[in-house]
Amino acid sequence: MMVCEYKPGLEGIPAAQSSISYVDGQKGILEYRGIRIEELAEKSTFLETAYLLIWGELPTKEELKAFEHEVRYHRRIKYRIRDMMKCFPESGHPMDALQASAAALGLFYSLRDLHNPVYIRDSVVRLIATIPTMVAAFQLMRKGNDPVRPRDDLDYSANFLYMLDEKEPDPLMARVFDICLILQVEHTMNASTFSARVTASTLTDPYAVVASAVGTLGGPLHGGANEEVIQMLEKIGSVENVRPYIEDCLQRKAKIMGFGHRVYKVKDPRATILQGLAEQLFEKFGHDKFYDIAQEMERVVEEKLGSKGIYPNIDFYSGLVYRKMGIPTDLFTPIFAIARVAGWLAHWKEQLAENRIFRPTQVYNGLHEVTYTPIDKR
Ligand code: CMC
Repeated sequence: MMVCEYKPGLEGIPAAQSSISYVDGQKGILEYRGIRIEELAEKSTFLETAYLLIWGELPTKEELKAFEHEVRYHRRIKYRIRDMMKCFPESGHPMDALQASAAALGLFYSLRDLHNPVYIRDSVVRLIATIPTMVAAFQLMRKGNDPVRPRDDLDYSANFLYMLDEKEPDPLMARVFDICLILQVEHTMNASTFSARVTASTLTDPYAVVASAVGTLGGPLHGGANEEVIQMLEKIGSVENVRPYIEDCLQRKAKIMGFGHRVYKVKDPRATILQGLAEQLFEKFGHDKFYDIAQEMERVVEEKLGSKGIYPNIDFYSGLVYRKMGIPTDLFTPIFAIARVAGWLAHWKEQLAENRIFRPTQVYNGLHEVTYTPIDKR
């Protein structure tokens, strides 16, 4: 057997062959199925981009209409899932609620027919349609309110924002939110996608695939960083405090949230687009002083760490956008999951097409031939 060098975090080790997305970390390029992210953010919608990622090509008008229609009419969740969610502690994190609810879908749709394209499509539609409803339902129920029924006359993003606070959103907010979903939907072999593919490779159901990926996305080194960015900006409090804060982090060798990336060694192209979206929102709905702090942070981090390739990543500006929309901080990562579920499903489908179970090796660095010590001699 070939012996490979051990790379912590599997850095640089290909875990799959994939045609779903591509990143050039030196040039700051991200493409979905070959199309640049900037073009999709300008011209596409989240559901069209999801279709592109999952089925490999942009849909025709009829295909898109049919897909949008199916998603629209599968948004409702079973009352027993709602009842289950009502029993979740309101102090629990919405990512944990989402992971449990996504896994619970597997109880209701337990048929597993992975070679049947109809099963694949139904599962894709069900997950993309119901994940936002579950996130919104938990948000309302933890405040002691009944969940709001989805509105069939609203499109995907407008309906989600409506379900969060029973108010039809401003069209600019809905469009900006939709673009945020496009930016967060897919990103090559990141930790949660790897998790999804490992789970998929065992030929389990897609609900277990998504639930495992949601669990992985929640950590502060991955999707959870967007919440920590806002907490950090709150802690810094003013532009004058930025430099001392960063110097202190560097001295303690603490990570500055929202900066750095395994692949990007320049500014993440998604961060650039999100920054522009944040500015559009500030122009229409008023400035946010945290944006001044964020911009100063970007300047100081570039000065101190630019030579190491540490620049803002997607999580640095996404929180500011969601904050301006009035979305609670602990929903930022569940919203990341709403988007990323389509990316995970694209990888699920690709993994199934050429499946081999993941079973890597390890470098054993423990003992051998140890004799058992009886308990009274230890
Ligand atoms: N602040 C300060 N120093 C940093 C940072 C940071 N945010 N990120 C990396 N570095 C330094 C690190 O200290 C190390 O320096 P040295 O070589 O002197 O020891 C060097 O850069 C390499 O860092 P690493 O931790 O080995 O890099 P990694 O590829 O293992 O980790 C990362 C990538 C994203 C986990 C890391 O940059 C980080 O923890 N960033 C903060 C958390 C964050 O914003 N996460 C969101 C990631 S993007 C969205 C997503 O994937 O979900």
